[in-house]
Amino acid sequence: MIRTKNISISYREFEKPEELDHNDLELIIAARETAVNAYAPYSHFRVGAAIRLESGIIVCGANIENAAYPSGLCAERSCISNSISNHHDDKPVALAVAAMTRDGLTEYPVTPCGSCRQVIAEEESRSGNQIKIILSGKYKTFILDSIDSLLPLQFDKKDLNLTLP
Ligand code: THU
Repeated sequence: MIRTKNISISYREFEKPEELDHNDLELIIAARETAVNAYAPYSHFRVGAAIRLESGIIVCGANIENAAYPSGLCAERSCISNSISNHHDDKPVALAVAAMTRDGLTEYPVTPCGSCRQVIAEEESRSGNQIKIILSGKYKTFILDSIDSLLPLQFDKKDLNLTLP
């Protein structure tokens, strides 16, 4: 029997900074400031990501490119790498992303690439927390409650049939 299943996602869209929660705005500003530190001499597309941890600490990461293109790393994974490496047991609660072209901040939010979605999903699974995803552009901000909305039907440790501690 063939069945058609539908998956719907929802996210909130904000147009004015005043509409945003104070903590979310602070995280967006951290992501924007970090984008400035990106090493993106090939694409000139600078991305910053910032994670808020349960303790209140904010950890940031930017994209770093490489002459051997696939060796580059996106801002989101750079940020998660910093966060796990330096604050292993402090769980993430929110992740903000902002990007810039040569003309400044992107007008609309940039959404994480497929590999980053997979890594964010693993971080939700590792920490046991849902991570609020805050995608910010100059004119609009999208907020999603969890990576589930960006990566439905995700591959995770259950698919490996493994039980990890
Ligand atoms: N990039 C990110 O850092 N995050 C994203 O969400 C999308 C893309 C980077 C990778 C590369 O350095 C540049 O943006 C252009 O793709």
